Amino acid sequence: MGGVSPLLSSSCSSSLTSSHVVTMMRRSVKNTRLSTTSSSAACDNSSTTQTTTYKRRDRLAQIKANDHGKSKVGATLELKGWVRSNRAQKDRAFIDLNDGSDMSGMQMVVLQEHVGENVWELVAGATSEVSTGASIRVKGKVVESPGGKQSVEVLVDELEIIGKADPATYPLQKKRHTLEYLRGIAHLRPRTNTIAAVSRVRNQLAFATHQFFQQNGFLYVNTPIITASDCEGAGEQFQVTCLLNGLEEEGSAGAAASVAPQDVEKVEQKVKSQGDIVKKTKADKGEGNATKEDVDREVKKLLELKEELTELQSGSNSPQTSVKELPKLKSGGVDYEQDFFAKRSYLTVSGQLNGEIMASAVNDIYTFGPTFRAENSNTSRHLAEFWMVEPELAFADLNDDMDCAEAYLKHCITHVLKHCDEDLQFFEKNISKDNLRERLQNVVDQDFARITYTEAVEHVLSAKKKFEFPIQWGSDLQSEHERYISEEVYKDRPVIVHDYPKDIKAFYMRANDDGKTVAAMDVLVPKVGELMGGSQREERLDVLEKKIEEVGLEKESYWWYLELRKYGSVPHSGFGLGFERLVQYVTGVENIRDVIAFPRYPGSADF
Ligand code: 4AD
Ligand code: MG
Repeated sequence: MGGVSPLLSSSCSSSLTSSHVVTMMRRSVKNTRLSTTSSSAACDNSSTTQTTTYKRRDRLAQIKANDHGKSKVGATLELKGWVRSNRAQKDRAFIDLNDGSDMSGMQMVVLQEHVGENVWELVAGATSEVSTGASIRVKGKVVESPGGKQSVEVLVDELEIIGKADPATYPLQKKRHTLEYLRGIAHLRPRTNTIAAVSRVRNQLAFATHQFFQQNGFLYVNTPIITASDCEGAGEQFQVTCLLNGLEEEGSAGAAASVAPQDVEKVEQKVKSQGDIVKKTKADKGEGNATKEDVDREVKKLLELKEELTELQSGSNSPQTSVKELPKLKSGGVDYEQDFFAKRSYLTVSGQLNGEIMASAVNDIYTFGPTFRAENSNTSRHLAEFWMVEPELAFADLNDDMDCAEAYLKHCITHVLKHCDEDLQFFEKNISKDNLRERLQNVVDQDFARITYTEAVEHVLSAKKKFEFPIQWGSDLQSEHERYISEEVYKDRPVIVHDYPKDIKAFYMRANDDGKTVAAMDVLVPKVGELMGGSQREERLDVLEKKIEEVGLEKESYWWYLELRKYGSVPHSGFGLGFERLVQYVTGVENIRDVIAFPRYPGSADF
């Protein structure tokens, strides 16, 4: 196997050199077996480039790599991390230190007779600051651990508190918290086993993604986040505009101006009468009929009323500001020519259309970036902001597309099985509570099932089980149908469903000769349902023009997309993989909001 490209070598080189690569043989109708291969010529991965001598202090994962730390016995290490727990006994204490690099962390053993009184007091004193959540620096010697739980531990020589965490208020305790509770403290939840493990698996999946495409000669391109087109045509876009800027400020100035003059007069009257009361009370005091307290009380009331009056007057005296109007067209609609981009713009729902431009010039490409959908779906599989991996293959038909999707998924799974075993074990035990790793291995070992949409509908229609949504030829498969097909019909195997009815798919998909279906494909996996969606693209200019008209899109807006079909058009195909759904699938985490550090969904953009 070849080395790594500079892009990859800087962050993850250690895990790359030994991993298997799934070969993706283009043009073979069915090629899904694993094999080890050399990298492609196109992205010249053949030489490992050592570009820097930069070296950070080893973290626990690196210290324990290969032999659980046994080869480090005798070495003195300096470690920094967060305290998971501190169990102090009569003359010794056991600190569970975690630095985020792996699940199990390392045990620090503090012996009273070995450390000075100061350190012992810090660790075991009545007001110990070595509490859950505190960050510490420790220096000590690696020794074999007599306990069966870990191979090695550190005998502490020095210990220093870097940042305290008050145990009375620290929101994370040693006990398990629910994932719902953790969503409310997203700034601290990466310190939990679950979210930290998700982050590490996610990192490896991102790495495996780049590795797979780089080794197969795909060019990584970045497509815009702001766009004027709706790729999927589903109208689920977030609009981007500067027309609203400043509207609120002017509006609030307008609100201040709305203090009615009669309100001001009322308070002026009250000030006047209270002034009279003050005068009278002072006179009464002179007569011996009122006390000093009586006078003070009335003066205080007067001052409060005067303050109220000043506030009202400043509001009523501010210049009248009218609320800013949106620029309008004669027809009454908003004039977006005056907006920042001089046209209506949105956050992208997919990088595909730009990906097609690139693939029509530099051959196979992939994008990997954030995408946004304003669908109001409060489900465990939808986010408003999610990451998508979108390869686009030049000179490729739907079979090439399916081969690529299958090989890519197998590569990702092979990679995490190899590099995330400790985390996967954790998910298996605590989250999926089943044979997660075995299920994943089965995905790698078997060919994916490939069936037509028509066959998929027949499976659902002949099912013994009851579904919430009925199905008939022409309607979209619901998540419950997708899961039924991959979980029950194909016994936990990924299934690629292809050739969908044209009316339920996007305008860009290539029309099949039957006049009813398009060359689309979805990859369905157990538990998650649709993991990838893709198609062969319509490369025939006349057919595409007709389609755009048929679905009511403005041909003028897609002039550049059409020109790709006018000049050197090629058959091409691609797909999009929802990255969070991949993390869900691989970890068994049920809710998509727990596989991204800072989830965005209806009503929530905190953190
Ligand atoms: O099936 P979709 O809508 O396909 C496209 O966007 C194509 N333009 C891709 C392409 O051919 N280049 O979305 C692709 C995948 C889905 O299969 C699903 O996994 C994921 O993106 N996805 C979502 N993930 C999380 N939250 C959402 N709201 C999602 N919508 C789609
Ligand atoms: Mg889809």
